[in-house]
Amino acid sequence: MTHLPQLALEDVGKSFTLHLRGGVRLPVLSGLSFTVRRGECVALGGPSGTGKSSVLRMVYGNYRCDEGAIKVRDEGEWVDVASATPRRIIALRRRAMGHVSQFLRVIPRIGALDLVAAAGRDSGLDFEAADARARELLGRLNLPARLWTLPPATFSGGEQQRVNIARGLIGNHPLLLLDEPTASLDARNRAAVIGLARQRRDSGCAVLGVFHDAEVRAALADREIDLGRFTRVVAAEAV
Ligand SMILES: Nc1ncnc2c1ncn2[C@@H]1O[C@H](COP(=O)(O)OP(=O)(O)OP(=O)(O)O)[C@@H](O)[C@H]1O
Ligand SMILES: [Mg+2]
Repeated sequence: MTHLPQLALEDVGKSFTLHLRGGVRLPVLSGLSFTVRRGECVALGGPSGTGKSSVLRMVYGNYRCDEGAIKVRDEGEWVDVASATPRRIIALRRRAMGHVSQFLRVIPRIGALDLVAAAGRDSGLDFEAADARARELLGRLNLPARLWTLPPATFSGGEQQRVNIARGLIGNHPLLLLDEPTASLDARNRAAVIGLARQRRDSGCAVLGVFHDAEVRAALADREIDLGRFTRVVAAEAV
């Protein structure tokens, strides 16, 4: 089960077209190829603005991939996110990939525990299992029990981030995408996140993440891909 590639990027390129700026094209990446195997954690590195978050968003299907292929394994077959239909991408998110974005998009009036359990049910857990796993995760992430029934809209940044992490981890997907999961956490909670992510990796999950914190990167990542090498160079336009 472990060591099989779970994610493969082949010659991926991305640029943004700024429609509000007269269609100016902003090149970001080109020629990016790498794989992530089950049981390994790969970190995306490189300076701010090199496209680390954009790569995670392309893999999750939030950003369109302009060039190349992004293949994710789903029940034994490869699915190319770059050319898959929205319906196929939704199925992939249910079964094959979990995503922890940097910020929680808060749904009003739904309590933290329900929010996490709902993500578990979306990925196929039954009601009881989703509820039990949500409680376990929120407990391990030290979210005070008095907050569990409250909507996260008024939570602190670190509390919201932990709800977000619990939502991303509950599904037990074979591929996990983490965008700076510990950015606003204290040392104790950073350690809790490292422990959970390691446990997933060691049980055969392929993890692709961005970790600014050197300590977190050292604790989790088996290798790093420097996106600075794939940054598009824009030729100066002739005037
Ligand atoms: N939706 C978008 N529309 C236009 N440009 C975008 C969009 N998203 C990202 N960009 C641009 O693409 C480049 C890469 O952004 P991205 O967020 O992927 O960088 P990053 O490596 O994650 O940076 P950081 O380390 O600061 O988080 C940036 O120049 C950014 O301005
Ligand atoms: Mg980023």
